[in-house]
Amino acid sequence: MNTAIDDSLPFSRVKPGEFLGTVAALERLDYCLEWRPWLWRRPAIHLLAPFERFREKRVLELGARFGRMSCLLASAGAAVNGVDVAGDAIQTARLEAARWGVEDRVRFDVYDGNGRNLPPGPFDVIFSKSVLGMVMKNKLPDLLSHLRSRLAPGGVGLFLENSNNRILEILRKHVIHRRERCWNDIHWGFYRSKLAIVERVFSPMNAKRLNFMVWAIRACGNGPKSSW
Ligand SMILES: C[S@@+](CC[C@H](N)C(=O)[O-])C[C@H]1O[C@@H](n2cnc3c(N)ncnc32)[C@H](O)[C@@H]1O
Repeated sequence: MNTAIDDSLPFSRVKPGEFLGTVAALERLDYCLEWRPWLWRRPAIHLLAPFERFREKRVLELGARFGRMSCLLASAGAAVNGVDVAGDAIQTARLEAARWGVEDRVRFDVYDGNGRNLPPGPFDVIFSKSVLGMVMKNKLPDLLSHLRSRLAPGGVGLFLENSNNRILEILRKHVIHRRERCWNDIHWGFYRSKLAIVERVFSPMNAKRLNFMVWAIRACGNGPKSSW
C-alpha cells in the first residue's frame, strides 16, 4: 500500500475557478484510488462518473484518510468535508489539498467515530471507500442512521466496499494480502449481512458487484428519488 506522500503531483494543480470534467478526473483516478487501482477503477467509475455531476454538490467523505478522493471530488467542483478517525491521516490530507490547489473547496476534520458527532450537513452526497467494511457489524446500523440523517432531500450515499465471503476471505488472507501480517487487526470485511444493513437503513439501495470483489453501492435513503 502506498502510504508515502511526496511533494509533487503526477498531474497539474487545479487553477482557481477551474472544475475538472470527467476526462481530467479519470486521468487522476488511479492516483486517488492509491491501492490496487486495477481492482477499484471500474467500480469507482460506475459509481462516480460523470464527474460533472459533482459541481456545486455538498459532499461528505467518511474515512477520507489521506484525502485524495476528497481532492478529486473537490476538483470537480464539489464542496467537500472529509472526516476520519485518524488524526495523522487528516494532517496529511490537508497538505494534499494544498498541493492540489483545492484547499478552499475541501475541509478535513478528525472525529471520534461516533456517528452523532459527524458534521451536521446536509450533504447531497455521502461517499466512502473501504470504510464500512472496517466498522463492526453491531456498530454499523447506528453509524449509517447518522449518515442518512445528514443527507439533503434527494441526496445519495455512494459506497465502495471490498466484498467478503468465506472463499474471498481465504483468497485474501493467503494470496492477495499474504505479506500483510496485520490482517486480523485491519479487516472486519463487508459481508452480505452488512449489505443488508445498508439496505435496511438507506433503502432504496442499488448494489452491484464488479470485478468479482468490489461492491458499488448507491443508496438513496432520503427521497424524493435521487437522479444519481
Ligand atoms: C482502509 S482505509 C480506506 C481509506 C480511504 N477511504 C481509501 O479508500 O483509500 C479505512 C479508513 O477509514 C477510517 N475509519 C475507520 N473507521 C472509521 C469510522 N467509524 N469513521 C470514519 N473513518 C473511519 C480509517 O481511519 C481509515 O483511514
